[in-house]
Amino acid sequence: MLGVERLSVQTARTPLLDDVTFTIERGERVGLIGESGSGKSLTALAVMGLLPEGLGATGDVRLSGRSPARRNLLGVGEREMARLRGDSMSMVFQEPMTALNPTMRVGDQVAEVMLLHRTQPSRAAARRRVVELLGQVDLPDAASLARSYPHELSGGQRQRVVLAIALANDPALLICDEPTTALDVTVQATVLDLVVRGVEERDAALLFITHDLGVVATVCERVLVMYGGRIVEAGPVHEVFTDPRHRYTQGLVAASDLTGAAGRRGRGALPTIPGSVPPAGAFPEGCVFRSRCAHATQVCATLPPWTPRGEHPAGAAAYGYACFHPAGGEGDDGDDD
Ligand SMILES: Nc1ncnc2c1ncn2[C@@H]1O[C@H](COP(=O)(O)OP(=O)(O)O)[C@@H](O)[C@H]1O
Ligand code: SF4
Ligand SMILES: [Mg+2]
Repeated sequence: MLGVERLSVQTARTPLLDDVTFTIERGERVGLIGESGSGKSLTALAVMGLLPEGLGATGDVRLSGRSPARRNLLGVGEREMARLRGDSMSMVFQEPMTALNPTMRVGDQVAEVMLLHRTQPSRAAARRRVVELLGQVDLPDAASLARSYPHELSGGQRQRVVLAIALANDPALLICDEPTTALDVTVQATVLDLVVRGVEERDAALLFITHDLGVVATVCERVLVMYGGRIVEAGPVHEVFTDPRHRYTQGLVAASDLTGAAGRRGRGALPTIPGSVPPAGAFPEGCVFRSRCAHATQVCATLPPWTPRGEHPAGAAAYGYACFHPAGGEGDDGDDD
């Protein structure tokens, strides 16, 4: 459904994304994880044609089955991209208020995206569909809620409205960028359920960005691990999380409480990845994780090749890692420092 090949993004002098390659099949839910500053949001913005002023993108981004038929979206003009956004592909951001117009009733905002893209024949039909859509995201009393303004709703309700807008035209691809990070923990699980239900009902592809591995384990089937503007590991969620190969993934998994590491080590004693994410342009040559990796050797100053984990129906490119001294490999002492 979505094919991203050798996507690179840069400012006039600094590379920000390097050779990002992945696919998402119809109906597939793929997570994109990595610490803050890894390049997750830029990847999403490049796909949506929403990169900030001053950034350039090269590579190939294709959304199949929709117009403009199988063209590289990086070469598509702004008018056509605007038509695709909110129709063939849509995005939910972390902060719902940035996506909503504070002076417009929320029902009208949901109706507008359908009228703009002509997916409903009339205003009356769009209104009826609004009530259905708000019901689908479990908003109570949808008909009267549609007449509310954003400030009259809770954060969780606002994010559900944003999700209803994103799903209104049955997109082929939904991208969520940390959609629950700003919400109360109790509301998070509900919104995650609604995202999964929304894409399942439409057989849409989902790219779900988060720094929370637990969320990925709940929502996604496959995961891409990003660091320093590169994808360093990719594969089925359960395999990558139980048997991470790249030393960066290994650090992320150890620092999350997915594996019960917190219990073993006692509360509050979770290990963290030493050091911090360098600013853009300051990542080392060769393996981008080299400056923080306890396993680095001289060879890591050259670019690690992509190593497939084994046979996979979606192809080896969707299923591997780039590390010279992988965890769990031969000669690994199992020490997870
Ligand atoms: N408009 C921009 N100009 C220059 N650098 C940018 C711009 N936007 C993002 N960056 C840099 O690109 C890197 C990746 O950013 P981002 O994709 O937002 O990371 P993430 O979403 O993983 O936290 C960061 O170092 C960030 O500072
Ligand atoms: S390639 Fe080398 S520096 Fe990079 S993660 Fe693997 S061991 Fe560490
Ligand atoms: Mg981000």
